[in-house]
Amino acid sequence: MSDHVPLWLGKPAPRYTSYPPATQFAAVTPARTPSHLAELAGSATPISLYLHIPFCRSLCLFCGCHQVITQRADRMAAYQVALHQEIKLVREKLGKRVVVSHLHFGGGSPSSLTPTQFTALMEALGEAFAFTANCEKAIELDPRTTAPELVEVLARTGINRASLGVQDFNPKVQETIHRVQPIELVRGVMENLRGAGITALSLDLMYGLPHQTEASLAETAQQALTLDPERISLFSYAHVPGFKTYQKALEDAGLPNDADKLKQERVMRQALVAAGYAEIGIDHFAKPTDSLAIAMQNGTLGRNFQGYTDDVASMLLGLGASSISDVPGCFVQNEPDLEIYQQRVAQGELPLKRVCFRSADDHRRGRIISDLMCKFTAELGDVSDLGDALARLVPYERAGLVRRSGSQLTVDRAYPMAVRAVAACFDRYYDAAKIASKVA
Ligand SMILES: C[S@@+](CC[C@H](N)C(=O)[O-])C[C@H]1O[C@@H](n2cnc3c(N)ncnc32)[C@H](O)[C@@H]1O
Ligand code: SF4
Repeated sequence: MSDHVPLWLGKPAPRYTSYPPATQFAAVTPARTPSHLAELAGSATPISLYLHIPFCRSLCLFCGCHQVITQRADRMAAYQVALHQEIKLVREKLGKRVVVSHLHFGGGSPSSLTPTQFTALMEALGEAFAFTANCEKAIELDPRTTAPELVEVLARTGINRASLGVQDFNPKVQETIHRVQPIELVRGVMENLRGAGITALSLDLMYGLPHQTEASLAETAQQALTLDPERISLFSYAHVPGFKTYQKALEDAGLPNDADKLKQERVMRQALVAAGYAEIGIDHFAKPTDSLAIAMQNGTLGRNFQGYTDDVASMLLGLGASSISDVPGCFVQNEPDLEIYQQRVAQGELPLKRVCFRSADDHRRGRIISDLMCKFTAELGDVSDLGDALARLVPYERAGLVRRSGSQLTVDRAYPMAVRAVAACFDRYYDAAKIASKVA
């Protein structure tokens, strides 16, 4: 192991939930206007739909998400109006009810919606889109704001998968990160969800936070296991204080260094694997019977903006402030500023902010990167036009971390945390300094 560590520890690399990564997106202008809706309308297969609900009741000091902290009902109501306007606008421009096989509510905290708001949104989506009979309908929930009345409505409107933000169960860690939620609270919400028929449940855990130790994380893992989730996402804390300035507060409490983070990740991984969870890509775990584990086995595991997915749809439509659409021609991001987003849709305008048109080379490198992130192996094809990628790989090959057999590249599965750094060798836009300061 010591041979490998210096190579990639501390090398910042994107999470590659997209390629090109979000740092490459640039302003939409009259000369750079995407035609993603035409591509979505022409899709021969069902698409995925993502809705962004930015609101959270209070700020978690580690948060790297696009969120807005408020408890003001009028702000949330104004956003609802805008979401309904955007859904209508997009439906008109699509010219038909496009078929959807995956729906995802992300945030922020979609659990900030009232039962009435959620019901109205699902009705509007049902009018604008045609959901397949077995459509996966997933939602991200903050257990602290998931009221029993909301759970009832989620089940009634067809939500069939939920992920709950936990991070850590240690009281000292929770206090430091401003995220106090005892395990009994999480257990109660999971019981409510299961009781209502929403049984596909996932927990988000995190390492690399202040006061976490290998021992405290092992305990958090055991506590999480008592909740019997179908899936667990184990995120490495991304510290980007240049981008999210409030994260600086965590420096005072002391952050682990990269070598310590590596040990923490191993403790968690070992605990989850020992409990029978299958390892999914670099940071997800699932029961062997779960669809993500089956996708991993079948080689159909994919990557989207939320992480790993068994969603095979080739196009994604994002709705709401900061959401991203993904079609073969481009990635398009909506305006992240709430007020501007609301003003633009009120004027009947698509609230597009940034776009990244994808070249054939982007697609090719994107496929290699996605295969490495999902399968730990990739077919490189003709390597002569991959620029300096192979030269950048050399140190990893010398250390035995990657193997090349003909044009097939394979990363040692014992080092999942090295995959991002290896994938970055194929990223023609890779700029370590920019990533360290900007990308979560
Ligand atoms: C949108 S939140 C989940 C829903 C809800 N807002 C909550 O926190 O319960 C998505 C997840 O992203 C992860 N996350 C947030 N900030 C992060 C960071 N800086 N580094 C790594 N993961 C982060 C957390 O695990 C969090 O649960
Ligand atoms: S982690 Fe979740 S609840 Fe906390 S601020 Fe971020 S989005 Fe909101």
